[in-house]
Amino acid sequence: MANQKFINSLKKEAQNVPPIWMMRQAGRYHPPYQEKRKSYSFIDLCKKPQLAAQVALDPVEDFDFDVSILFSDLLFPLEQLSMGLSYKSGPPTLEFQLQSHDDFKKLKVIESSETFYDFQANTLKFLIEKLPKDKTLLGFVGAPFTLYTYATEGAHKGNLVSSKQGLYDGRFQKFNEILLPELLMNIKVQLNAGADAICLFDTAVGELCFKDFKQFIVPVMRDIFKNIKSQFPDKKIIYYSKLTHLEYLKEIQSDELDVLGIDWRMNLVSALKELGNDYYIQGNIDPVWLHLSNNDLLKNLEILKKQVTESGVDLNRWIAGLGHGVLIETPEENVRSAVKFFQEISY
Ligand code: CP3
Repeated sequence: MANQKFINSLKKEAQNVPPIWMMRQAGRYHPPYQEKRKSYSFIDLCKKPQLAAQVALDPVEDFDFDVSILFSDLLFPLEQLSMGLSYKSGPPTLEFQLQSHDDFKKLKVIESSETFYDFQANTLKFLIEKLPKDKTLLGFVGAPFTLYTYATEGAHKGNLVSSKQGLYDGRFQKFNEILLPELLMNIKVQLNAGADAICLFDTAVGELCFKDFKQFIVPVMRDIFKNIKSQFPDKKIIYYSKLTHLEYLKEIQSDELDVLGIDWRMNLVSALKELGNDYYIQGNIDPVWLHLSNNDLLKNLEILKKQVTESGVDLNRWIAGLGHGVLIETPEENVRSAVKFFQEISY
């Protein structure tokens, strides 16, 4: 087995350098992606497996990330439930939203997950053929609350009044009854196709108060982690949540979960100190740092490095990356120098 920095790190092999990857490392800031977008729609890039595999490979080849992440989107499960997903006007749109119990009558699984997610399985197969053996392959799905927020509001915007009401009027539970079997199959398709780990992205969940997070979200997430690990004991599970903080993440207490992705509002040293015994911690620089001058970016990364190396925490529990995704119009030179900076850290 080749030396895979990311997966070795998760097998507790101390390497004295953090593995590095970034959410949305493939995307619109990157000239090879912009070039492909001139000829293909976003949907084509996701659903044509050879193209999707190349899009996922481009940033690994260009910047030497330790990980390649499946190129796809988090909202396809809503298309599978007949919600009419489209990216024609830019941001994703749905034909209807789950505003009332009646709206659930319109939900219909259009195809079994095995068939529907065949494009993701094939993308992963092409990726395995082409990916250098020292790189790790990640699959991903959206976590239930984030998918439910999009299904209810049509976007992640505003106060999420309807989504939060739905936790109490049964719409969240109804949605999960339909979604969860399909989402678990989606995860299974990706892991069977060869992904080494699965990320669950929960961008919207930090909008909830701690009580609601504890009451409505934690039990659902724990069940998902258990279900995955019982079928795939050797695969790793990553849970990214945005706008949550230490109290939320401490509440998860799941033996099946391997990695917690955290955002830039959290103190990385505190997260490693408080949660590093139970999980690996991934993150968490502000994606906007990559929009600063190269000089300021490197100064900030030096400060971060000093903080973590002088703190005495076990840095072998750290996976370097952003607190969210790479933003559009990020200068690619800054991505390159951030990756290089992390590769040259040693402790
Ligand atoms: O990380 C990766 O490199 C894999 C690719 C990836 C995409 N979306 C590609 C994409 C991943 C992991 C996602 C996750 C995703 N998608 C999330 C969760 C994480 C997050 O960013 O909060 C969410 C909420 C979505 C839904 C989605 N897809 C939105 C809201 C948008 C429009 C906003 C935007 O940034 O354009 C998309 C489109 C999308 N997904 C693009 C890419 C590269 C842009 C498509 C294009 O115009 O070319």
